[in-house]
Amino acid sequence: MHQSEAVLFHEADSFLRQFFKENDREEVELRIGQVYDEINQNGTYHLTEEELIFGAKLAWRNSNRCIGRLFWKGLKIRDRRQLDSIEAVFEDLLEHLDFATNGGKIRSTISIYPGTSEGPEGPRILNKQVIRFAGYRMSNGQILGDPDSIEFTRFCQSLGWKSPRTAFDVLPLVIQMGSQEPKWFEIPEEKVLRVPISHPEFSWFEELNIQWYAVPLISDMRLEIGGISFPCSPFNGWYMLSEIAVRNFADEHRYNLLPQIAEKMNLKAKELRSLWKDKALLVLQEAVLHSFQAKGVSLVDHHTASEQFLEFCRIEESKSRKVQADWAWIVPPSAGSTMGVFHQEWDNQIIKPNFFYQQNLWLEKFPESDAKSRTCPFTVG
Ligand code: ARG
Repeated sequence: MHQSEAVLFHEADSFLRQFFKENDREEVELRIGQVYDEINQNGTYHLTEEELIFGAKLAWRNSNRCIGRLFWKGLKIRDRRQLDSIEAVFEDLLEHLDFATNGGKIRSTISIYPGTSEGPEGPRILNKQVIRFAGYRMSNGQILGDPDSIEFTRFCQSLGWKSPRTAFDVLPLVIQMGSQEPKWFEIPEEKVLRVPISHPEFSWFEELNIQWYAVPLISDMRLEIGGISFPCSPFNGWYMLSEIAVRNFADEHRYNLLPQIAEKMNLKAKELRSLWKDKALLVLQEAVLHSFQAKGVSLVDHHTASEQFLEFCRIEESKSRKVQADWAWIVPPSAGSTMGVFHQEWDNQIIKPNFFYQQNLWLEKFPESDAKSRTCPFTVG
């Protein structure tokens, strides 16, 4: 065995032992022997469907930054390791969207496309999420849409994408096979559940004309199970209120809506001490919560999510498993100390199976992008 094969076998061995143990299965040695032979012969091995399913659930359970982990056992797994073309992956992603959206009653779902056990040239999705809004820097210097998408939007345009240029244009899906050229696909509008945002009391709120999408479907992370990597394994849950209301809508480097809301509310936005940001932020949160509820779309508020996470911790401890968590990500970004999670501490080690960040494939092919030149203004030659 080469060294890399020995490493793979070591990872497989520890995952399989966990899989057999947690599921009260017998004859783990037999399965480990098979995997040993398979790695010896082919340099890699295949996970059975049951192993894949359990591994994906464990990857969620082990996600240190996720507050929603109470529901890890309910993850729906779509085993799509046999799909071998960009077009097939695109069509299948639309099915994932339909299944996960489920008319608003969102189902936590992962699709797993060919990984390193199927060969080195598998698919990759270049988008951060399957549904995300484009962003444009306009000639007057103002920004339209989501500032976080400006570079990726330019990349899509460089591939030939044309857009209506509104503040809420859904970006096309860009998929690549191995080192081949990426292809882009428009997502049909009927696949995208959108939630227009209004406030239960303030009718002026609708003049802001804002909306968000229902399904956060992360598409740029690598899933690793038993030493096998799945660089294309998009997964979704449902939103927590603060992700949309506090971060996406209120961050200064995102939609930055607090000044507009303060104006509508006649708050003293010149004076920090007037607490105008806190007041505007609360109204924004009320609006998002109300709108998702009115449309029948799953969304959890941060207080409930905090309770659910502490319940998850209790269950894990009762099974003698130590919860690993990243405090700065777990504690929601508003009203932190009013929630139980604020007053806890956790170890923050990375346990596998898990999801990992991976190299961005499009930035390097797009050297003229702002993002790169912005990374360090002092090294420009
Ligand atoms: N924070 C990201 C966003 O606002 C989504 C991350 C995943 N969130 C989730 N609830 N599963 O789009």
